[in-house]
Amino acid sequence: MTQRTILVTSALPYANGPLHLGHMLEVIQTDIWVRFQRLCGHHCRYVCADDAHGTPIMLRARDEGISPEALIARIYGEHLRDLQRYAIAMDNFYTTHSPENRHFAELIYTRLKEGGFIANREIEQSFDEAAGMFLPDRFIRGTCPRCRTPGQHGDSCESCGATYNPMELLDAVSVLSGTPPVLRRTEHYFVRLAAFEAMLRQWLEQANVQEAVRHKLMEWFAVGLADWDISRDSPYFGFEIPGTVGKYFYVWLDAPIGYMASFQNLCTRLRELDFAAFWGADATAELYHFIGKDIIYFHCLFWPAMLHGAGFRTPSGVFAHGFLTVDGQKMSKSRGTFIEAQLFAQHLDPQMLRYYFASKLSAAVEDIDLNLDEMLERCNADVVGKLVNIPARLAPFLERHSGGLLSPVSPDDPLWARVQGAARQLAQHYEAREYAAVVRLVMACADQVNQFIQEQAPWRLEKQGAIQQVQQVASLGIQCFRLLVLYLKPIVPHLAAEAERFLQIEPLRWHDAGLPLGDHVIQPYSALARRLERAAVQRLRDAAQAQGGQDKKNAPGQVEPAASGPGDGQDYIDIQDFGRIDLRVARILEAAVVPESSKLLRLMVDLGTEKRQIFAGIKGAYQPETLVGRLCVIVANLKPRAMRFGVSEGMVLAAGDDGPGIFLLSADSGAEPGMRVR
Ligand code: MSP
Ligand code: ZN
Repeated sequence: MTQRTILVTSALPYANGPLHLGHMLEVIQTDIWVRFQRLCGHHCRYVCADDAHGTPIMLRARDEGISPEALIARIYGEHLRDLQRYAIAMDNFYTTHSPENRHFAELIYTRLKEGGFIANREIEQSFDEAAGMFLPDRFIRGTCPRCRTPGQHGDSCESCGATYNPMELLDAVSVLSGTPPVLRRTEHYFVRLAAFEAMLRQWLEQANVQEAVRHKLMEWFAVGLADWDISRDSPYFGFEIPGTVGKYFYVWLDAPIGYMASFQNLCTRLRELDFAAFWGADATAELYHFIGKDIIYFHCLFWPAMLHGAGFRTPSGVFAHGFLTVDGQKMSKSRGTFIEAQLFAQHLDPQMLRYYFASKLSAAVEDIDLNLDEMLERCNADVVGKLVNIPARLAPFLERHSGGLLSPVSPDDPLWARVQGAARQLAQHYEAREYAAVVRLVMACADQVNQFIQEQAPWRLEKQGAIQQVQQVASLGIQCFRLLVLYLKPIVPHLAAEAERFLQIEPLRWHDAGLPLGDHVIQPYSALARRLERAAVQRLRDAAQAQGGQDKKNAPGQVEPAASGPGDGQDYIDIQDFGRIDLRVARILEAAVVPESSKLLRLMVDLGTEKRQIFAGIKGAYQPETLVGRLCVIVANLKPRAMRFGVSEGMVLAAGDDGPGIFLLSADSGAEPGMRVR
């Protein structure tokens, strides 16, 4: 295999609001592809950033009474938290409001200017005299000149679909001040896009883009490429254009440059990457952008033109996806179908969303519909019912009869051959972003494994005393399960990691599909995935509905209280939620090291009315004998967990991270074991 060097990006989310499930569709699609490439041993980097500039961000900060810098810093924290929660394995998540981005924006602009690709001329634009600023089209409202529907936005009518110039609206007013806008002359800067037509056509010949996208571009060529307005007047939150006063780069100029800037920042941090090998005019790395269908124009026309005009490489490919709809309709706050990533994760396992999205994603530029009931059924049937079911049924046989030892698999066993034979096809599907086909094929394999178990009926063999056969059937099933886990690893990475622990194997790589495990012992089975619950889905629906109602009250222009309630990055729980956690004082009666574990101590604690065994990850910080007699605080109603060395019946609270920096919480003397803690 020749190792590929690849740089991948997802579009930069705007830093003026939370990530929602539409954003997650995109980053999950990208992340699966990236994880697959890495699994195959390719050198694949993945960068992204917040898109921090522009009028909406400036105005939102003003509304909140904070600086734009403070706003984007807060949103950045929220975005990063969400990305991590959904296991999005970016190498770098940065911001466009960075020194690197300013550097590259100025550099690219200057080179375009030197190349004669920048023009400037006066235009007329709507101006709000009360607010003292020029108005983007969407900040103007009025009555549609064609169908007379009131309250339409500046460039198109939602009712009849007419498009127009904002000054054609009847009774037009600025949404900022409510006053009618006036026209004012101002000098703007433009990129002469038409000068790049031949270059763009050539790029399109060899770039990896979908047919639908190619088609769209041909239409745009046919209409003719107009100059692109890249400047905005002060006040604006962005980078000032070199050599001007009060002129700023339009947010869409420096946004894609943010891909470069984020990568440059990664190079600085890691000191092992060669920037030029990724971005230089004759870069050898592959470069792919994952984007939504609404921003094809920017990525397939402006961006390659800018790069080429400034002496950089052009993208190897651009992969566009469709939009996420919910229950067949555009996401809408008032219908409660605008689901924030954070909210979803509070109620349901994000990994299940990854699986569900994968089961619906293809390489087509088609919209994808989220239906929560369908998600529940699909995930429970596939992940729990078919996949995890295999070890859940088989591992106990091995535990009983061979201490977890697997018996060897014959390479030409038909079931093994079938499951192993899927690897090639699956790799092609992943590469082509045909994830729905991946899921279908893996589940077809899982069906066969389950059918095999059903036919062989190891429970019957066991009763008949055919123990060797029991071991063989169970081993073959587990060996196949290992492959299925490998195949789904890019989609459900956490489940795969849990399964690797259960199987006691090194992290799976794609080439592991070639060989079964030899002499090998696995761990006793403990649940690898949990069913989605109907009640939890309903709670999510209710919460989204409630949030939609909430947001409607905060109409634009109204001041939202800063840093209170959802949106300030906090996960609030109410007092009832807190009340569900049964915290108790306990006295440590015994403490001993667990020799098989680097972190754990085995504690026996007195809870007043009963004794409990608890495994606590505090070995790095405490000598066991120093703990005996101490009062500590435990979570008494944590579900008991079977571990390799025994059952842990609770959790001891401690502050800090792993290793020596961990500090046990204790109760002051006088407290009694069993006392409730609140
Ligand atoms: N900031 C720009 C992108 C700059 S890239 C140099 C932007 N931001 S966005 O927050 O509006 O969208 C970010 C990405 O999410 C885009 O690719 C967009 O298409 C995608 N999506 C936003 N809403 C979406 C859905 N409802 N469904 C699927 N993708 C969606 O555009
Ligand atoms: Zn109309």
